[in-house]
Amino acid sequence: MDHAVTGQEALSRIALADDLDTVEALRVEFLGKQGSISGLLKTLGKLDPEARKLEGPRIHALRESVSEALAARKTALETAALDARLAAETIDLSLPAPATARGVVHPISQVMDELAEVFADLGFAVATGPEIEDDWHNFTALNMPESHPARAMHDTFYFPDHNDDGREMLLRTHTSPVQIRTMLKDGAPLRVIAPGRVYRSDSDATHTPMFHQIEGLVIDKGIHLGHLKWTLETFLKAFFERDDIVLRLRPSYFPFTEPSVEVDVGYANEGGRRVVGGSGDAPGHAWMEVLGSGMVNRRVIEAGGLDPDEWQGFAFGTGVDRLAMLKYGMDDLRAFFDGDVRWLSHYGFSALDVPTLSGGVGTPA
Ligand code: DAH
Repeated sequence: MDHAVTGQEALSRIALADDLDTVEALRVEFLGKQGSISGLLKTLGKLDPEARKLEGPRIHALRESVSEALAARKTALETAALDARLAAETIDLSLPAPATARGVVHPISQVMDELAEVFADLGFAVATGPEIEDDWHNFTALNMPESHPARAMHDTFYFPDHNDDGREMLLRTHTSPVQIRTMLKDGAPLRVIAPGRVYRSDSDATHTPMFHQIEGLVIDKGIHLGHLKWTLETFLKAFFERDDIVLRLRPSYFPFTEPSVEVDVGYANEGGRRVVGGSGDAPGHAWMEVLGSGMVNRRVIEAGGLDPDEWQGFAFGTGVDRLAMLKYGMDDLRAFFDGDVRWLSHYGFSALDVPTLSGGVGTPA
């Protein structure tokens, strides 16, 4: 066997290998257990000492040069692959920004901003309170003492431990406790809205365990139902950007208001979705409840640290998610919280579309 030819052949085949799999296949062919060079090494033992002296170094040199060539080829191929990848992944920072902005404002955020804008124009500040509340602020101070039946209707998430004042802790079931916190903190007179997350153990197409409400509270002297009606009408017209919003006030019951009023708006079904506007009694129209409200109960004003003979007020509360669905035509509340990019890019708003009364509170980009 002519070792020189075998070596040359091996080296040129290695030089021609153009991927790592081929290099590995050649390694096995030459140097593997059954490899041709390994085979040569095994013949050494059978040679007589003279021949072995001659052949030994040649075969070892052959094995050395082939394994060096394999290693070198492997490194060269790996380096080339890395270079190609780096070239392909290069970011050209001098390229202009994409024509379409990525990322959108969630409809809930947008609607909360719209509401803040509408109410700021009426002189309302934005108030906040904790989502982890105690049962005094969430229930008792709102005229729902322990064992009050309305507590059971709220499907409350309770925490196992009480706070330092011995109060039961819970996830607030509504934004109404912010009424109490704001009165205690700021006193009167007062004009605030309180948008935020609330929690109830409830889940279907129109209920999610976490949802959003907005609360309104006005405390002043000589406040009456007329102020409430005007405020809600002005708010709903500005929010829905229509002058033909018609309200219907229905007597109702909430522990924290007396009298209590439920507010309906007239709407019609257009193209499979509800469009607000017009009287609910008009042909093709119906009424839909949108708000709970009323004159703040004397006991609530007292719990807020104020004298109910001196101060009166009205309050209202409604679902932000529902308002968003109604205004922008979504039909499944759960999609709000799925984080599906297709849904978000369809219903989301441009970050530059900041709601303003002069520019239109909710004009989609
Ligand atoms: N807190 C009530 C709820 O979650 C909504 C509500 C009704 C708030 C009447 C109010 C109000 O401020 O006056 O169902």
